[in-house]
Amino acid sequence: MTKLWNKGYNLDAVIENYTVSDDYSLDQKLVQYDCVASLAHAKMLHKIGILTTQELRDLEMGLQEIMSLWEQGKFKIERSQEDCHTAIETYLIEHYGDAGRKIHTGRSRNDQVLVALKLFAKDEIGQILEAAQELVKSLNAFAKAHRETPIPGRTHMQLAMPASLGLWAGAMSASLQDDVIFLQAALKIIDQCPLGSASSFGVSLPLDRQFVSDTLGFEKVQHNVLYCANSRGKWESMALSAYTQIMLTLSKAANDLIFFSLPELGYVSLPKELCSGSSLMPQKKNPDGLELIRAKAATVQGNLNIILEIIRPLISGYNRDFQETKRPFMQSTQITKESLWVMTHTIEKLEVHLDKCVAAFKPELFATDWVMELVAQGIPFRTAYQQVAQNPNDAPHQDPIQNIRTKNYD
Ligand code: ARG
Repeated sequence: MTKLWNKGYNLDAVIENYTVSDDYSLDQKLVQYDCVASLAHAKMLHKIGILTTQELRDLEMGLQEIMSLWEQGKFKIERSQEDCHTAIETYLIEHYGDAGRKIHTGRSRNDQVLVALKLFAKDEIGQILEAAQELVKSLNAFAKAHRETPIPGRTHMQLAMPASLGLWAGAMSASLQDDVIFLQAALKIIDQCPLGSASSFGVSLPLDRQFVSDTLGFEKVQHNVLYCANSRGKWESMALSAYTQIMLTLSKAANDLIFFSLPELGYVSLPKELCSGSSLMPQKKNPDGLELIRAKAATVQGNLNIILEIIRPLISGYNRDFQETKRPFMQSTQITKESLWVMTHTIEKLEVHLDKCVAAFKPELFATDWVMELVAQGIPFRTAYQQVAQNPNDAPHQDPIQNIRTKNYD
């Protein structure tokens, strides 16, 4: 199979296996985006007089054929082809001759992979934002339903003050809403079209970059051609920083739910359909989904570091090192999306046990409220504090539900 850079010799097999690695199979995810970008590029080449109308038609047909083959799972990328860009151009040349030979005019695989990855990223981040909004909705509904479901609030994991499941769910929702703003900011930075930057230095043809950018639905052209190349890995790491924040929120929520559902506490429980059992201990009902959210948060954060470390030592311009950022980026995108789905599903199925929540209230939880009562009677705060500190468990008994009703939790 001929490579795009074929110059009449064969690449050493050991080097080929090592350099291509699994990149050609990751590229299955980029085929549709490369076709869309190639089509916009072809339209632009036609506009500036490089492709005839017939050649443009041929390329439109060819790219359509590739997309429908891909949709049926029949578009193969061979390892020897290195990537989807080669497989697509090879198909176009085999089926449409010179039109196929002209498609690469004015571009390099370096800007080609950037644009395909950005189109992929825009789609996926759009889905992640939607999934995050869904979870915000579920958390808000849960918060509303459990506004008056009391649970002990903790600091240092010790009993602190009365809280509610509603307060907890609202906190998770607020955290996720911040993460959404962060991811939207990353998306705005990603939404700049790199096509036309070619290898890293543009080309001496009057490419209409604005036309390509508009056709592909980017917010604007990413103007500096060298920065286009340099920004690879950088924008992925921005998305991953936001994914990391989302995963931190999910991880905290997962941890809290695992804690709330401890048999000794039992404020909530997961329906058995969401839990797996033990191969040995018949009584076990394990929150594996939540545990894996916690672990996958570490993977996403680790992947962020991988990308940052890959790009950190590079000099300006394309370097093959960039290829290694594709896998951690794609993997983290998938993990973040799926983790949001799993958490939404879990919140919607969560069973709450009001009796257990109320039973968890020991008198000491009302100690600070007792101090406030004394303060309201005119006793100086420090004096009241010291008085209650003598015996916090003597705090006058309160109904936990009544107590949290008086708190300004919203
Ligand atoms: N698979 C390569 C990547 O992801 C495609 C670009 C190859 N470019 C090159 N100059 N060898 O970076």
